[in-house]
Amino acid sequence: MCGIIGYIGQKEANSILIDGLKRMEYRGYDSAGVAVLDNGTIFSLKRIGKVAELARAQTKFPHRGPIGIGHTRWATHGNVSERNAHPHLSDDGRFAVVHNGIIENYLQIKAFLIERNYRFASDTDTEILANLIDYHYQKAPHLHFAEIVRKTLLHVEGTYGIAIISKIFADELVVARKGSPLLIGLGEGENIVASDAAAVARYTKRVVYLNDGEVASVRSDNFSITTLHENAVDVVCHELDWEIHDTDLADYPHYMLKEIFEQPSVIENAMRGRFTADGCSAKFGGISLIPRELRMVDRLLFCACGTAYHACLVGKYLIEKYARIPVDVEYASEFRYRNAPPQRNTLVFVVSQSGETIDTLAALHEAKRRGYMVLGITNVVGSTIARATDAGIYQHAGLEMGVASTKAFTSQITILSMLALLFARIRDMDAIVGLQYVQALKSLPIIASDVLKLSEQIRIIAEKYYGYERFLFLGRQAMYPIALEGALKLKEIAYVHAEAFPTAEMKHGPIALISEETICIFIATQNELLDKTMNNIQEVKARGGKVIAIVNNNCIAWEIFCDEVLIIPEVHPGINPITSVIPLQFLAYYIGILRGCDVDRPRNLAKSVTVE
Ligand code: G6P
Repeated sequence: MCGIIGYIGQKEANSILIDGLKRMEYRGYDSAGVAVLDNGTIFSLKRIGKVAELARAQTKFPHRGPIGIGHTRWATHGNVSERNAHPHLSDDGRFAVVHNGIIENYLQIKAFLIERNYRFASDTDTEILANLIDYHYQKAPHLHFAEIVRKTLLHVEGTYGIAIISKIFADELVVARKGSPLLIGLGEGENIVASDAAAVARYTKRVVYLNDGEVASVRSDNFSITTLHENAVDVVCHELDWEIHDTDLADYPHYMLKEIFEQPSVIENAMRGRFTADGCSAKFGGISLIPRELRMVDRLLFCACGTAYHACLVGKYLIEKYARIPVDVEYASEFRYRNAPPQRNTLVFVVSQSGETIDTLAALHEAKRRGYMVLGITNVVGSTIARATDAGIYQHAGLEMGVASTKAFTSQITILSMLALLFARIRDMDAIVGLQYVQALKSLPIIASDVLKLSEQIRIIAEKYYGYERFLFLGRQAMYPIALEGALKLKEIAYVHAEAFPTAEMKHGPIALISEETICIFIATQNELLDKTMNNIQEVKARGGKVIAIVNNNCIAWEIFCDEVLIIPEVHPGINPITSVIPLQFLAYYIGILRGCDVDRPRNLAKSVTVE
């Protein structure tokens, strides 16, 4: 969603702001803008559409000041237009603000300010912040910049990550956070604030994450943080584990394709150092529970959104199958508002690539409020969810730039497969079976590389079917969530209506959709129930539907009854979902490309949904 960047140092702020905005483009946005303080005046420039539009307009923006803020906006209040794009300046141009989040009491504040003759140029909730800061400045001009902002925010309800510059306080930038991520990247003689580490990774790897209710005053060579109520804060500096090339495309045309191809190494990183010395089980340094405590767990509850939710569903099948622990999986957005009955000896996991998804964070808080221990699986080190959980597991998948998650998904299901092994070895699974499981996991990067070789075959299949408007994805057991994920990818990337069902459910309704216009994708890579799946395939063929099957062996029946057959290596059932999803990622990618879609930045989607 919205991206925030701010610079203070010795260099020209403008180019650094534009570069930071480009690096946050993957989050999704509809307009962009910058404001720079130059010779005592704040100048702003905004454009709807891509950051490239803003960059092009820079030729008419000759402002070279060393302090500024920038923003990519994902419209919530007010339509997509230049006047609603950020930064927003206070009425007389003294302050400029960029904001991520929603100010809930903005109408009351706006009325209050209009009564005091403030004028407004936009329909946004953000503009009231600029004017309210100005109002508090006028009331007490002797106060420090951060004090004025603190006083202002005491009157504000809602969520915000904000960055503010002022012509009155020319050597300072103020940032504050409540419910929307913000960090300070620490440089030499310069500091960069951002809502996303991707925007600062090029300049520094040392970052300080703000917590909710904190306000920071940032200068070129120092910074200080207090709470809204002026209490001192223990500052913790984190080291980013990304490389700058994570944000580059290398030789790939799109981040999505690059990230699909990164999966063998991503899977390896998810496993690195996480097998026990005897080679029969998994271990996670981040999970502080000892085996006796883990054995006391009677039930697991997973909460997540989107693709991460599908990963949790895969985890349910694997954990219940191998560890025999009941697992519930809930959409975080449902759990947070649902009055779920309390359960004894339940361990809660929240799973989130970004570590910032607002619903997942809220579910985490709700679970903690109810007294559950909450563990996290996240990709972004130091993210809000990573910091709010009791303990957790990092994915180490590197920065994921494609809005539609690919490598983060396989990394999550690799970790969940290892969790299934860990819990199983504490309970039912003997060492020999554990050893076989570990060997299967260790072979996974090479097998995933083999599956990647199907890319060209899938591109050719995509060329045949990209014009169709109706796709059904069908899978049994752990392949059902893989079917859900395949359908989600196609919807997100190619804007094609796609649905997923457990294969046998087809008869209970979806079969009515089958005609010559319907493509059915069967994920038939688990050995059990293949005969029954073959019956389902014949039911589709009898009604004129097209069948694409993903299978493990090239038996004659597949060739006879399916229009297309994709053969992937037969593997241990504990890793089967990981290899099975890769062809579906390719299929969505190629169909998206053939339909002319912007696969890295699909319409209306945001990489990380930080507002409700
Ligand atoms: C957004 C993204 C999805 C993602 C979901 C959860 O909707 O578009 O791709 O799966 O958020 O994100 P998270 O960062 O919590 O895994």
